[in-house]
Amino acid sequence: MDTLDSLKTELLAAVEGAADMAGLEDVRVSALGKKGRITALMGDMRTLSPEERRERGQQLNALKDAVADAIEGRRAVLKRAELSARLAAERIDVTLPARPETEGRVHPISQTVDEIVAIFAEMGFTVAEGPDIETDFHNFTALNMPEEHPARQMHDTFYLPPGPEGGNPRVLRTHTSPVQIRTMLSQKPPIRIISPGRTYRSDYDQTHTPMFHQVEALVIGEDIHMGHLKGCLLEFVRAFFQVDDLPVRFRPSFFPFTEPSAEIDIGCSRKGGELKIGNFGDWLEIGGSGMVHPKVLENCGIDPARYQGFAFGMGIERMAMLKYGIPDLRTFFEADLRWLKHYGFVPLDQPNVAQGLTR
Ligand code: DAH
Repeated sequence: MDTLDSLKTELLAAVEGAADMAGLEDVRVSALGKKGRITALMGDMRTLSPEERRERGQQLNALKDAVADAIEGRRAVLKRAELSARLAAERIDVTLPARPETEGRVHPISQTVDEIVAIFAEMGFTVAEGPDIETDFHNFTALNMPEEHPARQMHDTFYLPPGPEGGNPRVLRTHTSPVQIRTMLSQKPPIRIISPGRTYRSDYDQTHTPMFHQVEALVIGEDIHMGHLKGCLLEFVRAFFQVDDLPVRFRPSFFPFTEPSAEIDIGCSRKGGELKIGNFGDWLEIGGSGMVHPKVLENCGIDPARYQGFAFGMGIERMAMLKYGIPDLRTFFEADLRWLKHYGFVPLDQPNVAQGLTR
């Protein structure tokens, strides 16, 4: 009896002393394995009388259960300790700053588009899109430029063969204005959209590239007037250029799709050959605008007796050049990594009006 008790004490101590899973397994094998000590004692019972065997068997079973329970208990403890150790070893410090030097840069055109969208989004505009390959109808006819209209010649259009449905040649859109048409054909007033995107004209020199970007705006409602157009532009250019008293001026002009039409000028200075944006008395053109022509509304199934609205269009490269002091238009499209590194933006600094557009 004594020996069983001391064996139990010894084995339980060994179980408690096992430092890891492998050590615990060694203890298990030495006690309960095929050649283990308890297993051996059980084998020895063959020599006993039936009564002795019953008593001894109960004692040995009790010992075996006690040791097995202790092993299970110890296994759970070791498992938990192992997990804690692993969690500690694999811990990631999420408070570490992002890599100090992110390699990629956001192109100034993308940055400028993001800024423009952020400003207009806050004024309640949504972003509308249209295809780069347009129909003659959307790019010209519906915008009050019927075939043979002289205004078509102002756009150095890239023509493509007619689409599968035949009809007129298709074009690479020469401006973002066809998105006005697509929006009015698919949406009912009130409408308040901007549409930034690529545009194409067959022209290449210091101030023209065959692909460039514009942003279009369109607002249609029952009581929209030119005051809204001017207020909206004023709000936009002041937010975009971050000049609180930047003035906007309308200069009478002509576009077939607006009546009246006006060119948009903002204040600037050219003193000493240096261009500065601000309230300095000189003027710089940034885009075209006007009240949507009744015929254009009609072409889109909108009743001009009930609805009216304004539209404007601006060149995005020009806006980017003015804001960020980029001197040469053609560099935008040269994909020169040194240029991008210099003029590009850190991807994690997303423009938003609340935190400032650029930091
Ligand atoms: N689509 C014109 C262009 O590319 C710009 C423009 C002028 C857009 C007047 C407008 C507008 O929406 O109202 O030259």
